[in-house]
Parts: sequence; structure tokens; C-alpha cells
Amino acid sequence: MSGNPYQDDRGNKDASITKRHGVGEIPYRKGGKATPAAKGEAFLIGDTMTGGYGTGPDILHECTIAVNPGEIAVIVGPNGAGKSTAMKAVFGMLDVRSGHVLLDGEDITALSPQDRVIKGMGFVPQTNNIFTSLTVEENLEMGAFIRRDDFRGTMAQVYDLFPILKEKRNQAAGELSGGQRQQVAVGRALMTRPKVLMLDEPTAGVSPIVMDELFDRIIEVARTGIPILMVEQNARQALEIADKGYVLVQGRNAFTGTGKELLEDPEVRKSFLGG
Ligand SMILES: Nc1ncnc2c1ncn2[C@@H]1O[C@H](COP(=O)(O)OP(=O)(O)OP(=O)(O)O)[C@@H](O)[C@H]1O
Ligand SMILES: [Mg+2]
Repeated sequence: MSGNPYQDDRGNKDASITKRHGVGEIPYRKGGKATPAAKGEAFLIGDTMTGGYGTGPDILHECTIAVNPGEIAVIVGPNGAGKSTAMKAVFGMLDVRSGHVLLDGEDITALSPQDRVIKGMGFVPQTNNIFTSLTVEENLEMGAFIRRDDFRGTMAQVYDLFPILKEKRNQAAGELSGGQRQQVAVGRALMTRPKVLMLDEPTAGVSPIVMDELFDRIIEVARTGIPILMVEQNARQALEIADKGYVLVQGRNAFTGTGKELLEDPEVRKSFLGG
């Protein structure tokens, strides 16, 4: 796993959502299936997805995650709950045995990840999300791979959003700090001018100050009109900026609500937010 730039410094630093008591004790709300917006309404929805890796067992069980225009939707849950798997399913990196993925009303379940990028999906995976040996600027150029037009304007916007990247544009991305690398990864995804941005643990392995800063930048991106669907291990902080939140447990929707509702829910607090 030496090729993984985050292997050494990432991981769940927020003990509040780890499996301290074993997932068996996590209370499931009766009828607690997600209640996403009406299908026509969600801009991006992975709807009642069931599936796993290859011929292996199902990891996702009728799991639904969605994001509406103008929203930040956050997915939280214990390690191994299937958060990354749900994101990969929405991005087309694993076959769903049942369920659908809809983007702007169009069924894209059968499309490859590449075709989903062309349709407007930007995805920053949890690991291996930058080219460490390439410079910052080369990483951003790689992000623009589907574009045939002049992307310098977009690059300038990315540099405005993340000024440190401009300063370090000729440096190898692998030499950057954890938080800076995450900026490269988000910047790379923005280079395609996505209609929706999916981020898997954008603040993994960074200090609380850097986390706050990254969240501010993510809010800024959302304000430019790009809906954001993101997985976060810093559950409390992420739900504070979330319009909508999903708690996944063992591949299922355990709780769904606005960020505020989940933060105030006694069961969610007790089981996932450290009380
Ligand atoms: N490539 C893979 N092949 C087979 N099984 C996998 C693969 N990736 C993940 N899994 C399994 O799927 C389950 C869910 O893993 P996943 O990575 O989606 O969890 P997660 O909620 O993102 O966890 P974390 O908080 O640690 O990132 C785990 O049991 C894991 O072992
Ligand atoms: Mg994950």
C-alpha cells in the first residue's frame, strides 16, 4: 500500500463515530429508511442501491444517498459502514445489483465512471486522489482531461479558491501537506467544471484548523452553485454545515435528516456523536 499517499496519516481521528461499542448495539430507527426528496427533485441520487464488490457479498442494502441543487449533503457512519462503497456505486465503480443512479433526472446506472464525468460528475476518492509525482499544476491539467476548450480560466478560479496551490504550482504534489494535497484533489475535480461534486473524506488526516479551512472552501464551492455530496469522519462538524445528512450503518440508511435534525437527535448523538 506504499502507493497510497494517505495511508500513514489518515484514519478516523474522531472517536465519536468509531465502533467503540460494536455496531450490533447501534439502534436502528424503525422504518428508518432514507426519505430522500422526490425522485424528480434530487439532482443526484443513488436510489435504493444494493450491491458489493465483484462476486462478493452485498455491502450496500437498499442504500439511498442524494443531493439537491444548492445543497451540501453529508454521509457519516462508523468505519466500514459502506460510505465509500456508496460513493463508488454512485460514481459507477461498482455494479449495483438493484437500485438506480439518476443525475438531473437521467438514469445513468449503466454508464462508466468516465461517461459520468462527461455528464458532469466530479469525484474525489478517499485514497490515491492525486498524482504525487506530478506538479500541482500538472495535477490540475490532468483534471481537465475531458475538456477540449481553454481551461485556463478554470485554473485561475481554482487558484483563487486555493491560493497556496498557485504558490506551489511547480512543486510535486507529493511534497505538499495533507491539507494542501486535499486542495489539489478538490481542485483537480473542479477542473472538469462539474455539475455536482462528490468528496470522500476531504478532511482526512488534517488538523482541526485545516479542517475548518477546508470546510469554508467547500461551502464556497457550494455557493457557486455546485451541489456537494460528501463523506466525512468529522461527523459533528460536517453535520453543522450540512443541509442534509445520512447516517449509514452496515450498508443501510440508519438515520436521515437535515444536519440540524441529526445533530439534535438523541440516538444519533449517543451512538455517533459522542453524546
Ligand atoms: N475493493 C473492495 N473489495 C472488497 N471489499 C471491499 C472493498 N472496499 C471495501 N470493501 C468492504 O466493504 C465494506 C465497506 O467498506 P467502505 O470502504 O465502503 O467503508 P467506509 O464506511 O467508507 O469506511 P471508512 O470510514 O473506514 O472509510 C467493508 O467491509 C470493506 O471491507
Ligand atoms: Mg471510506
